Order: sequence, then structure tokens, then C-alpha cells
Amino acid sequence: MSVTVIYPRPDDPADMKRLDKVLYGQLFDVEYQTIHDMSALDGLRGQQLLFAVPLGRYGINSEYSRLLLTLRSHPDLFEGCTSAIIIDGESEFFTKSIATELAFAVNNAGSALIGRPLVEGTGSLVNYRIQAKVMGVDLKGAYIAAVRDLVVRLIRLKPVRKEHPKLLVLHASNHRTSNTLQLWDKLSEKLSDAVEIKELCLRNGTISDCAGCPYTMCLHFGEKGRCFYGGVMQEEVWPAVMECDGLMMLCPNYNDALSANLSAFINRLTGLFRQHRFYEKALFSIIVSGYSGGDIVARQVISALNMNKSFYLPPHFAMLETANDPGEALTLPGIDDRLDQFALEIKKVMCG
Ligand SMILES: Cc1cc2nc3c(=O)[nH]c(=O)nc-3n(C[C@H](O)[C@H](O)[C@H](O)COP(=O)(O)O)c2cc1C
Repeated sequence: MSVTVIYPRPDDPADMKRLDKVLYGQLFDVEYQTIHDMSALDGLRGQQLLFAVPLGRYGINSEYSRLLLTLRSHPDLFEGCTSAIIIDGESEFFTKSIATELAFAVNNAGSALIGRPLVEGTGSLVNYRIQAKVMGVDLKGAYIAAVRDLVVRLIRLKPVRKEHPKLLVLHASNHRTSNTLQLWDKLSEKLSDAVEIKELCLRNGTISDCAGCPYTMCLHFGEKGRCFYGGVMQEEVWPAVMECDGLMMLCPNYNDALSANLSAFINRLTGLFRQHRFYEKALFSIIVSGYSGGDIVARQVISALNMNKSFYLPPHFAMLETANDPGEALTLPGIDDRLDQFALEIKKVMCG
């Protein structure tokens, strides 16, 4: 198995020092090539890609900006690829925000991302405090272990397809007025011949937000398949998540973010996540904004469910539309073609 390391050269070569050390030692049993020049990214379709981005002290890397330009201007550059990401910085900020920006661009360019695709090294590496304690190593040791784990998961990934896959659809919208739900209704008609669909509505306080119980208490409840609050989440939603092969999040843009009910679902998934990983479950989304900002919501979905909660991110995971008046989404120019295309992508990922 070979890996292509896409490593935008930083403005100051000193910014590569730590990343070089933690990265190359972990590729000892992998065939790899490194590309530093972001104008030379042709011919990589179908490959395993490892993005390694040094951000220096101020979170800026001009060659990384060139990478973004290349990705955004070539929407099929990485068709058939699978990716993982390492972001290394000298400050405590920017690593996660750059990671979600890059993940969204890479996904739009046709690449899948493995579940938990991100390893970040903040300036102090304090983000490894817990792992270092658990492993009995120092912060840098935990960082190196995370890079190795990432490389192994990237090269070993085998996509799962099934004859009759199950798709769980979560929403918190009103059927009569919601553009997001109306798009889903049309999409479901195009999927129902090949995919078993289960819809759950999380409206009107069906789910209380996470209480933020102490770690050991969360673990204790989780081991018993329970959560402090119990209720619909424990009785209905967790079992449906465990059973599904794919998760479809229907996300209207509310103040450039996920709605409170959907956020509560993700927060309350933490108890289940303590016991299970979701690497083989594919994540999809329909995101509708009245005006703008769909990319911000998409990045939030990637960050929460792919990066944190480990769902597999298939190529072109989301359909993003702009519509405000009730019913407007279904009248957008070209909407039927885009729904057809999205249905096709979903079947390609899920159906064997
Ligand atoms: C509470 C609330 C906040 C909203 N915030 C935004 C926003 O920040 N940006 C935006 O483009 N649209 C915003 N909208 C508009 C919705 O995104 C828009 O109605 C879109 O059609 C999706 O919602 P729907 O599925 O309920 O129709 C907001 C709507 C509501 C009800």
C-alpha cells in the first residue's frame, strides 16, 4: 500500500521541523511520495492521501492557500481518493479550523475521509494530555502514537457496502414548511428502491442536551447502553444509530450553525461513542441556508461527526442549497439533476 503525502511547504522552513520528525518516523513500513508544490497535484485519483500542513506561529501557510485554490477550482481532482490529515502549529489556535476547512475542500474534490481523520499538534501539545496519561508517555510520544495510528487506519481502510443497506435520517424540522425536509422527501423517493430508510424526528424537546457528566460516570452509564438522561435518545436513537449503515443529517442553517436539537443529538451521542466507533457508518447531509453560510454548517457536521465521533465521510458527502421561502428549494434551477446525482453517490457508497 502506498501513500501520497501532500505537504504544503511553509513560508519559514523552520516550521517543518516538528512535523517532519513526527511524520516520517511513522511511515517506516509504507511506500510513500511527498509533494511540496501545490501546483503539482495531478494524477492522484484513487490514491490514499495524507495531508500534512505546518501552520507555524500565526496559522498562516501560503502554499496551503494555493492548495485550497487548486481544490476549489478542480472539483474532481481527488475522485476515488481516501484522505487523512495532520495539522501542526506553534500556537494553541487554528489547527482545528484549518482542518475543517481543508476536509470540506478535499471532500468536495471527490475524496473520502476516514473516520477520525485528523491528528493535530497544537503549539504546547496540551491536546494530548489525556492520551499521554493513559499511555504513560510524554505529550510528544502521544502525538507520535496518534500519527502512527492515523497512518495505519488510512492504509487499512476497507469501505463497507451492503446489498440492503440501512440509512438513518435525523431531522428536527416541520414537514409542511421546511425546505430541507422537502429536499429529503424528493431524495428518499430516489433511494427507496435500494436503501432501507428510517426517519426519526428530534423536535420539541425530545432530546435534552448533554449534562456533561464526569467522564467515569458517562463511561459507567455507556457500558450499560444508557445515558444519565435516558429517554428517547437511549431508547430509540442510540439503537437506530447502532443498526444503521449510514446516517443522513438534515440540517437547516440556523444562525450559521446546526439547530439546537441536532446539536443535542450529537452531544448526547458521546455516551455511545465511549463504547463504540462508527468507522464503517457513512455520513451524509442535506444543508439548506436561507442566505449564505452552508459551508460553515457543513464544516460543523464534519468536525462533530466525522472528526470527533468517527463516522466515515464519503466523497461529496453533502448537498448544499440556498433557499428561504417555504417550497423554494424544490424550484431551484437544476435541483432535480443535483438530487439525482446525490442519490447516485449515496447508492455508490452504500450498496454492494
Ligand atoms: C432560527 C433561524 C435561524 C436562521 N439563521 C440563518 C442564517 O444564519 N443564515 C441563513 O442563511 N439562513 C438562516 N435561516 C434561514 C433558514 O436557513 C432557511 O429557512 C432555509 O430554508 C432552511 O430552513 P428550513 O429547512 O426550515 O426551510 C434561519 C432560520 C431560522 C428559523
